[in-house]
Amino acid sequence: MKALVLSGGEGTRLRPFTYSMAKQLVPVANKPVLVHCLENLRNIGVKETGIVVGGHGAQIEEAIGDGSRFGMRITYLRQEAPLGLAHCVTLAAEFLGDDEFVMYLGDNILAEGIADAAAEFRRRRPAAQLLVTKVADPRQYGVAEVDADGVVRALVEKPTEPRGDLAVIGAYFFTSAVHEATRAIRPSARGELEITDALQYLIEGGWAVTAQEYDGYWKDTGKIDDLLECNRVLLERLGTDGAGTADPMAAGEIDATTVVEGRVVVEPGARVTGSHLTGPVVIGAGSVVRDCRIGPNVAVGRDCVLESAGIENSIVLEGASITDVPELSGCVIGRWARVSAQDGGSHNRLIIGDHTQAEVPV
Ligand code: TTP
Repeated sequence: MKALVLSGGEGTRLRPFTYSMAKQLVPVANKPVLVHCLENLRNIGVKETGIVVGGHGAQIEEAIGDGSRFGMRITYLRQEAPLGLAHCVTLAAEFLGDDEFVMYLGDNILAEGIADAAAEFRRRRPAAQLLVTKVADPRQYGVAEVDADGVVRALVEKPTEPRGDLAVIGAYFFTSAVHEATRAIRPSARGELEITDALQYLIEGGWAVTAQEYDGYWKDTGKIDDLLECNRVLLERLGTDGAGTADPMAAGEIDATTVVEGRVVVEPGARVTGSHLTGPVVIGAGSVVRDCRIGPNVAVGRDCVLESAGIENSIVLEGASITDVPELSGCVIGRWARVSAQDGGSHNRLIIGDHTQAEVPV
């Protein structure tokens, strides 16, 4: 089975980060979302993966490479503009040939992997198999109407009056029948070739389209709050052997005056002094943490400097610094950003870029 990973798109909902980086490279629990995805593909034995990339393609290629570290060969497929998920299939048609494949959204986390779904697809061999999960508000999702045998009867994109609560999530299995569908459909009102329309074409043409309920943790990391929630959930599993047992993973330095509670990972070359760490927390390689209160649910990337700071429920990206600012919560701090207190100052001074959000207490 081949894989097609979709890592183009604009990522408008994740601005300002997506001005300078691909959203699929944003780390959750200190690992880029795309790496989580490729590990899942490796675990089902995929050897050939096409990654669809847009404007940040060079960066993705640099971070991921030729795929050898995931035991697969990766081909990069350039999409000139985000013209839809089904458009990605058309542009990968030559790469995919007549092979069956899994199409995986590069910004989705499926924490328990996709092995059960792949096995079910191989056993049942429908033209398409979707993964679905129950959601509280189906109006925000593509919704599948599924019968008792797991056969999809209809698919509706963001229904105003949903008939069911099963949302389609980011891993789709296809046989080559999908190519007829993606060639036949036309762009939607928003100008995109929709995968929902391709699937609906298959259903109406009498092809078997099935759905399997995903019982693991799933998250689309396309929005800040979802990214933070995902970070929290994956941090809780950090350094465990899957059975919930903590691994001694503190490879960096923690001095004797630092208090450590819960699961804390200090990566090699990181130094923590005079601090209070409340897990789950990960401190990235080469980072320096001095006199801070960190956690719970904080991922600090590599080469950051945190001094006399307090932070919980947050993601701090590579190279950022935080000095003398207590009580930060729910933050995503960009690469090489600086957050500091003003000596003797009485105002909040913000130098923030386009589409940035800042919330200060009143
Ligand atoms: P979306 O979440 O719809 O991605 P987006 O980048 O358009 O997000 P936003 O609405 O915030 O602007 O897409 C899901 C995944 O598929 C994501 O990893 C980006 C990728 N994608 C492509 O590679 N090509 C495309 O044409 C589209 C629409 C998405």
